[in-house]
Amino acid sequence: MQSKNKIEAKLVGLFCDNFVVYYKSHGYHFNVEGNTFAQDHALLEEIYDFLWEQHDVFGEQLRQMDKPAPTSLKSILTGSSIKECTELGESSKIMFLELSQDFESLMGSAQELYDEADMNACGGLATMLGDYLKALSKLNWKLKASIGKSFK
Ligand SMILES: [Fe+2]
Repeated sequence: MQSKNKIEAKLVGLFCDNFVVYYKSHGYHFNVEGNTFAQDHALLEEIYDFLWEQHDVFGEQLRQMDKPAPTSLKSILTGSSIKECTELGESSKIMFLELSQDFESLMGSAQELYDEADMNACGGLATMLGDYLKALSKLNWKLKASIGKSFK
């Protein structure tokens, strides 16, 4: 596959993955329960706000590359490698663990795409992905620290 096509395909994949994690985190925000509700609810809002903003950034980036951004939820689910949430009743610890694993997956895909963009002199795309990676890393730390898993 040509580099341009490879970059576009990876960006579509990341657009889809980001949206599925966005939707999952927003659903967790609504549904979380327990005696740490207020802080869990607030952290989940910080997360879904960020991922929602990124949805627009990725969509506009695809359009700048003359590619269509996926519009149907079906195509987003088909194009994503992230497992969506289908059951209620998880504890916030399980929710945060699940999201942290999803963040690791997003960071892996974003880093691969960053490397590809960097090798192909796509500075604007690389900068956008660098900013995305930086923010994901910080939010992932907050998730892991919340469940006592921020030290290896
Ligand atoms: Fe809310």
